[in-house]
Order: sequence, then structure tokens, then C-alpha cells
Amino acid sequence: MTTEDFRAAAHTAADLVSDYLAELPGRPVWQPMDAAARNALLDAPLPADGRPLADLLTAIGRDVLPHPMGNGHPRFFGWVNSAPAPAGVLATLAASAMNPSSAGGDHADVHLERAVVRWIAELVGFPHPAGGGLLTSGTSMATIVCLAAARNRAARRAGWDVREDGLAGLPPLVGYVTGETHSCVRKAVELLGLGSRHLRTVATGPDGRLDPAGLRAAVERDRAAGLLPFLVVASAGTVGTGTVDDFGPIADLCAEQRLWLHVDGAYGAFGVLDPAIAHRYAGLERADSLALDPHKWLGVPVDCGCALVRDTEELRGTFSLVPSYLRDEAAGALGWFSEYGTEQTRPFRALKVWATIAHKGRDGIARDIARCTALARRLGELIEADAELELLAEVQTSIVAFRHRTPGHDEAALDALNRELPVAVQRRGRVFVTGARLGEREMLRACLLNADTTEADLELLLAEVKATAAELQP
Ligand SMILES: Cc1ncc(COP(=O)(O)O)c(C=O)c1O
Repeated sequence: MTTEDFRAAAHTAADLVSDYLAELPGRPVWQPMDAAARNALLDAPLPADGRPLADLLTAIGRDVLPHPMGNGHPRFFGWVNSAPAPAGVLATLAASAMNPSSAGGDHADVHLERAVVRWIAELVGFPHPAGGGLLTSGTSMATIVCLAAARNRAARRAGWDVREDGLAGLPPLVGYVTGETHSCVRKAVELLGLGSRHLRTVATGPDGRLDPAGLRAAVERDRAAGLLPFLVVASAGTVGTGTVDDFGPIADLCAEQRLWLHVDGAYGAFGVLDPAIAHRYAGLERADSLALDPHKWLGVPVDCGCALVRDTEELRGTFSLVPSYLRDEAAGALGWFSEYGTEQTRPFRALKVWATIAHKGRDGIARDIARCTALARRLGELIEADAELELLAEVQTSIVAFRHRTPGHDEAALDALNRELPVAVQRRGRVFVTGARLGEREMLRACLLNADTTEADLELLLAEVKATAAELQP
């Protein structure tokens, strides 16, 4: 392949991607793939011979780009998946052209990662000592990184070296979450050998926030039973309702009881940039660790999570292992990123973060976030004004939890309908919304992450939900 071949293909790729992004809002948000299109991908035979780049781009344009997940469309309200920031899309090409391992060394990617981790910490107001953070594949991985550090600190305080001795013989380490804590926390606890049996679900108040009095009682009960309470996980935006815990009293209790406070800010931490809701985040800066996802509300193309840890040495002490083939006498005091997490070879995630933040600037990001929270509050108002719909939780950030409320239906019938609704709405292709259980009830949840969404899109969302409900129960 010559440089000119590559250049020509790259121009074609740029046109393909530009057209894709431009046409997206005019297409159905999502459509199920027909069997032939799906099977063409599933059953693709291993090619014996190669093909020219131009052919590959034709195949991508024909077989892949017409079948998106739907995020990227202004009427996609599902899960927590954002539209890609255009600057991040472009940066991805340059990053993969360089293709470094961002484990460590003296090259641009490593230094840029130090800078963007600091930027992320500054955006959300989390104290960031140099070396106290790194980019990860997402919050699931960031949570494993943070909780591993929490586990090792707690064990060390009990006279245990987990890295050397493992966990056998150590009294159970106990963590505290709420019923709305994301499943990645339980996964991390299981993976770290702590046992989900030792994860206590603490009650929440009527506002959905962790109840500090309930937390205190649970911690005291466990201490009295000879267990080792070590961790509290609070949320800066739960996935179900976007609820932000009241960090101040939780941080007080953690300080008093010497518990590690971890905050899951995967979806919602960047909400602190909106002056209208910033007060909800008071005390976030007191956490021992914060996991958050630039690939959610910032729109950095997947994948990009971030782990921020207050005490750099807890992180390095948990993960550092430098085999002789990776010695680097020239590394500065901080060493390599691979000493702070699980990955050795690490992708160049920093460039797409840098580009996304540099393109919008802090103020542009804050404007977009504020737009999303305002849209979410407006959606809440529209729901409350509609007798067929019921708002199920206060709109705290940009997730709106609601359900269809058909007059005369009992709870079982409402549950059955609201369980069926999201997929039926999705199939119509005009809006995309997902569902979940909130306590005992089935609900729909609309997540507003796209600043291009309009009020008319919100009205269409509700009209589609109601029309689908009428179709499902003629
Ligand atoms: C609140 C919350 N925590 C954690 C996660 C997991 O993050 P990731 O998918 O980046 O691993 C999510 C994903 O939606 C989330 O919303």
C-alpha cells in the first residue's frame, strides 16, 4: 500500500463518516436488523485473500454504518450512551495512527494522559495529586481499580498484606451500598474476592439518597459482629433516577469510622458543572476515590473511563509490579501508568479526551450539561402535566424516571405494560427509551445527554410512549 493509496482511502473514510453523522438525525433512531443483514456479519467467512482499502470502506458503508445502536441521534434517550463528540472522532484516527502503548515512557500520549486526568479532576472539583488517577476502559474497570486500593488499605490496617497473603484468614471486609448502586460495584466486590454477601444494602430516604443514619447503624452492627467495615459507595448520579447522594454526612461518617468513601460518578459527576444543580454535589471532593466516565456525558467516543484516587500511594502500592524487561531508569518519580492499574499495554485514550475538552472548553461543556438538565426538568414537567403518565422520582440531574399509568389498571397490570413498553417504543424507530425496575415498580427512564435534543423531541417521546401503550392495550 502506498501513501497515496492510504490518503485516498482516508479521504473516502472522512466523507463516509461525515455523511453518516450528517444523515443520522433524519434516520430512524434504531431499527432491528433484518436477518440477512445480521447474518452477513455473523457468518462472515474468514478471508483467505486480502482486499483493497476502498473495498473495505464500501463494505463498512453498506453493511455496518446503516445499523447503528441509536446513540448519536437526538431522540436517543436509552441507558447512558452519548453521541460521539466530533473532535473525539477525529482524534481517534490520529491516536490509532500513532498506536502507542500508554503504559509509560517519554512520548506524547503519556504526558497528555497526565494532563487530561488533571483536567477531568479540575472539571469536577476533585483534588488530584499527580499520579492519583488514570484513564480506564470505563467505570466498571475504574471501580475495580479504586476498590482494590480500598481493600488493600483496609487489610493493611488490620495487619494483612493482601498482595502477599491473599484474603484467607482475614475477617470479612464489609462494604455499604444502596439498592440503586450500579451493578459494577458488586461485580468488583465479587472479583476482588470480598464476596457479595459482605455488601450491605443501606436504606435510602424518600429522595432516593443513602440514609446516613441507616449507614451508621449497619456499620455498628457489623463491627459488633467482629467484621471489618471498610467501604461506602455513594453515587453522583444513579443509573436509574440520576440521584446524587448527600456526600457531606456520608463523608463525616467515613472519616469518623475510617471507611474508604468511593463515589460512582460514571454517569453524573459532570453534572456538577451546571450551576443550577452544583449544590447537590457538595462534599464530593471529600471522597477517597471517584470513578467517572468521559465516554458518557462528555461524549468522548467509547471507551474512556477514569479513576481518581486521593492518595497516589494507595494506588501504586496496590498495582505496581515492574518486571525487569520494563525497567525505565528515566521514568520520573511517578513511574508508569501501568503501576497504577491492571492494564500493561494501554490504548491512547487521552487524545480523544484532550480533543473533546479542548474543542468545547470548560464553558462549552458546562453549557451543554446545563442544557441537558434543563431539558430533563422540562420533561419532568410535561410528564407531571399528563394524566396518562406518572413521574416516579424527582429530576435531580438529567435522568427522568416515569411510567405509563393507564386508568383502572392495578399495579400488576401497570408493571406488565411498562415492562413491555420500552422495546415496543424502540421498534417504532422514532424515539429510543429503555426501562428498568425502580424498587417494586417497572419504569421507563429517559437519559438526556445530547445538547441537540429539542423540546419537540421530548414531546415526541411522550407521544410515542402513549401511542405505543394504546397499541399494546387496544
Ligand atoms: C452509575 C453508573 N455506574 C457505573 C456504570 C458502568 O460504567 P461502564 O459502562 O463505563 O463500565 C454505569 C454505566 O451506565 C453507570 O451508569
